[in-house]
Amino acid sequence: MSVLIKGGRVITAADDYVGDVYVEGERISLIGESLDVEADRVVDASGKYVLPGCVDPHTHLDMPFGGTVTIDDVESGQRAAAFGGTTCHVDFVIQPHGATFADALDEWKGKADGKQLIDMGYHMAITDLREGGSLDELAGLPDQGVTSYKLFMAYKGALMVDDETLFRSMQVAADSGALVMVHAENGDAIDVLVMEALARGETEPKYHALTRPPETEGEATNRAIQLARVAGSALYVVHVSCAEAVEPIAIAREKGWNVWGETCTQYFFVDYTFLERPSFEGAKFVYTPPPRDKANQEVLWNAVRTDVLSAISTDHCAFSWDGQKTLGRDDFSKIPNGGPGLENRLHMIHEFGVRSGRLTLNRMVELLATNPAKLFGLYPRKGTIAVGSDADIVVFDPDRKHTISASTHHSNVDYNLYEGTEVTGTPEVVLLRGNVLVENDQLVASPGIGQFVKRARFGEELKPAAAVA
Ligand code: URP
Ligand code: ZN
Ligand code: ZN
Repeated sequence: MSVLIKGGRVITAADDYVGDVYVEGERISLIGESLDVEADRVVDASGKYVLPGCVDPHTHLDMPFGGTVTIDDVESGQRAAAFGGTTCHVDFVIQPHGATFADALDEWKGKADGKQLIDMGYHMAITDLREGGSLDELAGLPDQGVTSYKLFMAYKGALMVDDETLFRSMQVAADSGALVMVHAENGDAIDVLVMEALARGETEPKYHALTRPPETEGEATNRAIQLARVAGSALYVVHVSCAEAVEPIAIAREKGWNVWGETCTQYFFVDYTFLERPSFEGAKFVYTPPPRDKANQEVLWNAVRTDVLSAISTDHCAFSWDGQKTLGRDDFSKIPNGGPGLENRLHMIHEFGVRSGRLTLNRMVELLATNPAKLFGLYPRKGTIAVGSDADIVVFDPDRKHTISASTHHSNVDYNLYEGTEVTGTPEVVLLRGNVLVENDQLVASPGIGQFVKRARFGEELKPAAAVA
């Protein structure tokens, strides 16, 4: 099967030109100004952007959490992703306490079997190094294409690890070449604040944020950075939400330490006041770290513009309001933590990043595709449009209006964080390795087309300049 994408504006992290892209089989084989080639399928992309398929480095599909399981499994989550122009993501295997990493990985691969619509990899979330996985086993994961370890510094009594586990994992990563990811919040302090709030009868959703102040994120971010320096490992701080966490990352990068950060779409748009919405609607916005005061939003735009933060993910972790979020109607600490967003990252960042003049198109591509691919060992197979790369391509109509709504989105979740937002610009045709996934607002591929991707070890190419020197 060959596909010729004709006359589009091809945009990568570095380039912006009008040209033709020719796909043979699963890969891009030719790029030129006006290609004279026969193709089984011609896509007219004139007036459209031709973007690399977006890569979401942080999602949670079919994950047990907070006494329930995320409403999106691999099929529904990846369906939503495909409609939003995301063709590859990296999900989290959560090591059950006492389980080996091998058993955990098998279990999570089983959840995806036969359901995949896009390509995916896994990070390993380490919860237990004492009775479960061993340090040797951890060191072997990169050989299996699992080249990142995630540690939760919060969620005490559930996913949280102590500093010894964090530090030992960093030591292993320093040798094995894995990238250490941290959920950086001080879980011990938060646990005290939650117990005190509940003892005072403070049970509404807004107390989720009030018991997780930004200082607890800043403290843990700094702690993780300093421990990574001692261990000699690279560090990637997930879902950075506030100035208190941006600052230590900025300092680290300024000094040339091997530290990276991401934020998520929702932190640019949802602020603390959303949690105060009446009739328990605030529960829709209970995710962690929590929505912050609005002033942080400009801090985050500035951080992604200046490469203090290098990627934007969704942290898609969807729980329906009705029946799942409502588990915490009388106690905010029982509201399952997480929000949806896998389908709307490109919509929202194009509209409010690019069209509002905060980001260039190149930088948008870098944040949503190229940098996630580079950081997580998928580049140049994913994350760019180049000869030899997988033909994961989004033909994006920059003029078409789209209203974001739970009534039309493709996730199973019963609400949308951006309900009613009108954007100009939406994916028109989405290809995965040369196969059309989405066109005419229809999914035209079947589950099973997506694959598990073995990722390469964390590379040198993105190291801050001073560290490379
Ligand atoms: O609230 C969130 N973010 N849920 C997903 C788990 C995590 O902390 O990333
Ligand atoms: Zn987290
Ligand atoms: Zn997450």
